Amino acid sequence: MNAQRRPLIAGNWKMFNGGPRACDLAAEVAAGVASLDRVDVVLCPPFTALAAVAAELDGHRVELGAQNLHPRASGAFTGEVSGPMLAECGARWVIVGHSERRHQFGETDELVAAKASAALDARLLPIVCVGETLAERTEGHTLPVVRHQIEAVLPMLERARGQAVVAYEPVWAIGTGHNATTEQVQEVHAMIRGQIARLSAELALHTRILYGGSVKADNAATLIGCPDVDGALVGGASLDARQFLAIARAAQTT
Ligand code: 13P
Repeated sequence: MNAQRRPLIAGNWKMFNGGPRACDLAAEVAAGVASLDRVDVVLCPPFTALAAVAAELDGHRVELGAQNLHPRASGAFTGEVSGPMLAECGARWVIVGHSERRHQFGETDELVAAKASAALDARLLPIVCVGETLAERTEGHTLPVVRHQIEAVLPMLERARGQAVVAYEPVWAIGTGHNATTEQVQEVHAMIRGQIARLSAELALHTRILYGGSVKADNAATLIGCPDVDGALVGGASLDARQFLAIARAAQTT
């Protein structure tokens, strides 16, 4: 953590809680966050729950995010959802380039960059996910892989003037219970910040870089304690209000 950057904890609900349970969970989180004033909190439910969760969060300090968007604002793209549509639902954030989309839906660095740019066009703030697979780490390719993923979104990061967020999520740490060590996390976060700094020192100082991958209440403080970690993108633990709130509390006291 660095005093220049306010911690951010985002919950990625993935394909869970698309119905009535979404409102109950959002309400529980919103009630808990009311007593936390030094951390930003974002909830990213499935598309089907966005509007209902937006209504639930109205008047609370928790912001709404989506998990994906199409790079075009409208058109004949059956089954897709655009940035302006997400904004209309009350979203302020959108996750872009999550590894599940890169690996299961073939999203390339170029498509991820187009989506992140489309998010800004719609006045949404992108949370751009990057990270290496286990094979890439084992073969010693972690830093070049992540550098290439970041390279694609540098123009967007510059345009966002420190408002967009990067999330480093090693693929092998997602949903596995094997989170990266603080040394592994700090090494990649420092590299990402250095890469942004070559563009602008000011931008690097203000851009928040989250860690994601098996973040739980009991390891959050240690991970967020790394100098270049500014919060967490939380999957499984964000489906449990008590765990998620414990992570948010850890972020604001770290
Ligand atoms: P887990 O916290 O379940 O490992 O998921 C991380 C993630 O993919 C958040 O986007």
